Formats: sequence, structure tokens, C-alpha cells
Amino acid sequence: MDRIVAVLRAFGEATRLRILALLARGELTVSELVQILGQSQPRVSRHLKLMAEAGVVERLPEGAWVFYRLTDDDPPTRRIADAAVAGLPGDDMTLRRDLERLETVKAARADAAASYFRAVALDWDRIRALQLAEAQVEDAMRAAAGDGPFAFMIDVGTGTGRVIELFADQAERAVGIDLSHEMLTIGRANLAKAGLAHCSVRHADLYALPFDDGVADLVTIHQVLHYLDDPGLAVAETARTLAPGGRILIVDFAPHGHEFLRDEHAHRRLGFSDDEVRDWAAVAGLTLDDPVALEPKKDGLTVKIWTARLAGEAAGRRRLEARA
Ligand SMILES: C[S@@+](CC[C@H](N)C(=O)[O-])C[C@H]1O[C@@H](n2cnc3c(N)ncnc32)[C@H](O)[C@@H]1O
Repeated sequence: MDRIVAVLRAFGEATRLRILALLARGELTVSELVQILGQSQPRVSRHLKLMAEAGVVERLPEGAWVFYRLTDDDPPTRRIADAAVAGLPGDDMTLRRDLERLETVKAARADAAASYFRAVALDWDRIRALQLAEAQVEDAMRAAAGDGPFAFMIDVGTGTGRVIELFADQAERAVGIDLSHEMLTIGRANLAKAGLAHCSVRHADLYALPFDDGVADLVTIHQVLHYLDDPGLAVAETARTLAPGGRILIVDFAPHGHEFLRDEHAHRRLGFSDDEVRDWAAVAGLTLDDPVALEPKKDGLTVKIWTARLAGEAAGRRRLEARA
């Protein structure tokens, strides 16, 4: 009873209800909330502190930024918070304006990332090589993917199509998707140059993949999630496309403190913990293998490979066995 009263108090105030409604749509930083709510940072921080103390929101410091999100750790509290959000009037002008500003903030963020990729597309393979010990990562990815063959592979956020090339000899068909036309132009040229007629790239948003449910037996998401607003949602959408026995290889950085990657390379998240990735996988109905950690190339960036699997027998393997 005391607990419920504390939770209700934590958002029993107009600004805190607005914060609740915003965080119900995904995690936000303090400065994004300040922008949307039009209130001073100390004021917004005070509200957030109260909500965090009551366990309604989680505070996730990461480098110079602090992310806030609605709790996932305490289901009863989350249910009360969700019920409060569901009860908010859709025609309230303040709430509607907040949601409009939220869309503006998200669009500005997406624009910043898109213009980064537009600008670096021609140079991406060089930048990629600077950040990663490529050969080591690629060997580890092939090991994590297993022997194949893969009836259908999807590469999410394919960029210049490098990961498709990596698996082209194991995939009967592979499609890479990306939002950046500049990246896709280079990816398309790379696949043509390599003579990979069974591989292609197409324009799509990874939050709404242009594929039916359960079609892919290998999905790769290589160095993409740290640019995103909602990496968990991206994993869930990717999992939707997975066939029984299929797997997703998530390749990204372990938690790090290289703040300059935000300023100079449009990163939003400074790496991910195993627990965070395991939670996304669990929500998407997948199980996670033990993660593989690849030692830093030079500047302390550890690359991780997380393999998430959907139970069942893989289609490519089944077909191979049927042919034998
Ligand atoms: C760092 S690049 C990685 C490219 C490639 N996977 C590689 O490792 O070389 C990230 C890619 O994700 C793409 N991307 C970012 N947000 C996206 C979205 N919402 N939908 C599809 N692609 C997206 C970018 O356009 C960019 O090409």
C-alpha cells in the first residue's frame, strides 16, 4: 500500500505526468526533456530525481549524458505507470504539444545522423577500418554465424554492404537495408563489382523492415545500434523477421567512455552491456549465447558479438540435409 502511494505521488503532479507520457515513448536525456518541456534543467532534474527515487524511472548515466527511461525492473510499478499514461486525455493541448516537440527532437537527431552518413559515405570503409580490427571481427562473426548455408540473410543498416560481402558465399540470398541513399549507392556498386548477383541492397527503415515474419535464418546488425534512439525496438523488429532456428548477430561496442564519438561521429550510445542486450533478446523471445569480446585495436574500444537465437531448426541447414 505504502509503495503504491509513493509511486502515485511520484507522478501526481502536472510536469511529472508529462515526463511520464514522454518516457512511455522511449528513453530520453535530460537535455531532450528540457527542450520538450520548456523548463529549466534544475527543475526537470528535480522532477526526475523524485521519480527515480520512487522507482518509476531508471537513471542511466553514460559518459556526459544521462538517459532516463520508465522502469522495466519493477513490473507492478510499471503497470501503474502504464495505466496512468493510458488514462491521459488525448486532446490535452499541453500533452499534444509535448508529443509534437518530441517528434521534432527525434527528427533533429535522425537528421544529424543522416547527414553524418551522407557526409562520410564515400569515406566510410576507411573510418570503419580505423575504429575496428576488421579481420578479427569478421572472423569472429563468421564463427558466431556457424556453417550455414543461410537460405536468406538480412543485413540491417548495411552501409557499404561489407557484411553482405562477408557472408555472400554462405547465403543463398542476401538483402541489406539502409536509410542512407549515399551509403546504398556505394553498397550497390560494391556488390556489383564483386559479382554477387544473389545479393542486393534496398532503401528501408530498420524499425519497419520490408520483410514478412519468419523469413530470415541469419540477420546481422553490425555497428548500427549505437546510433539509434531505441536499439531494443530495432532488435525486436529484427527478431520478427527471424525464421525458426535463425540467429541475429549483433556486433557493437562494449560500454566505453569515448565521448568524442558522440560529437564527431553521431553516436548516441557509448556501447552496450551484456545485460542490456540480453534483456532486448528476452523481450524479443530469443536466447543469447555467451557474448564474444574482441580486444581493442588501439583506443580502448572493445567490440562485442552477441548472438541471439530463435528456437527451432534452421531453414538453410534443413534444405541442405534434404538435398544430401
Ligand atoms: C556505422 S554504419 C554501419 C554500416 C555497416 N553495417 C558496416 O558495418 O559497415 C551505420 C548504418 O546504419 C544506417 N542506419 C542508421 N539508422 C538507420 C535506420 N533507422 N534504418 C536503416 N538504416 C539506418 C546508417 O545509414 C549507416 O549506413
